[in-house]
Amino acid sequence: MAVREFGRFMCESLRHPGGVGAIAPSSRRLAHHMVQRIDWGSVNTVVEFGPGTGVFTAQILQCKRPGTEFFAVELNSQFVATLERRFPDVTFLEDSVANIEALCRQRGVSEVDAIVCGLPWAAFSDRDQTAYLDAMMRVLKPGGHLATFAYLPGMVLPAAHRFRRKLRSYFGEVHMSPTVWLNVPPAFVYRCWR
Ligand SMILES: C[S@@+](CC[C@H](N)C(=O)[O-])C[C@H]1O[C@@H](n2cnc3c(N)ncnc32)[C@H](O)[C@@H]1O
Repeated sequence: MAVREFGRFMCESLRHPGGVGAIAPSSRRLAHHMVQRIDWGSVNTVVEFGPGTGVFTAQILQCKRPGTEFFAVELNSQFVATLERRFPDVTFLEDSVANIEALCRQRGVSEVDAIVCGLPWAAFSDRDQTAYLDAMMRVLKPGGHLATFAYLPGMVLPAAHRFRRKLRSYFGEVHMSPTVWLNVPPAFVYRCWR
């Protein structure tokens, strides 16, 4: 990742600590774990939630088949500007994932096979966690995949435990990756199948 994108991330994380919910962009190692268990051969539509400066976006572009529909939803306008410069061929929608159903409809997408999600779940209230998960379930097809991550030190927070319980109630299968130590701070991936 270029110094410019790293600088943009740090700047936005200071300006909107609750919305960004991270002190640094994810590492490429974590990004690799995010996309590793997705069955890319059968993914026709993939959506990214909260791409930030695009660490996971780059991995998705490497893995997805050429014909696979792909777009990303990012709330922060500065990140959207950075992403559009970095990935001119990808569609970035400046919006909240709370509106994912309407965004899919606008793009003629009826269901999504996989969601790669960088949202800072432990920074969200109970209400927001539920609202975003409910919104996600309205578009994720049965058998569909969610990859999302949590910071290891963040697991001391009640919101992080609440989110883990919610994942188990929303998804048929929830697996955790090994800890990715090469990330600031160390993190792990929740791999969930609906
Ligand atoms: C922890 S950062 C992760 C960024 C990037 N995926 C990474 O791993 O480096 C969380 C991202 O989610 C975005 N975000 C937070 N709430 C959002 C929402 N309701 N809808 C869309 N994006 C959101 C933030 O602006 C930020 O880019």
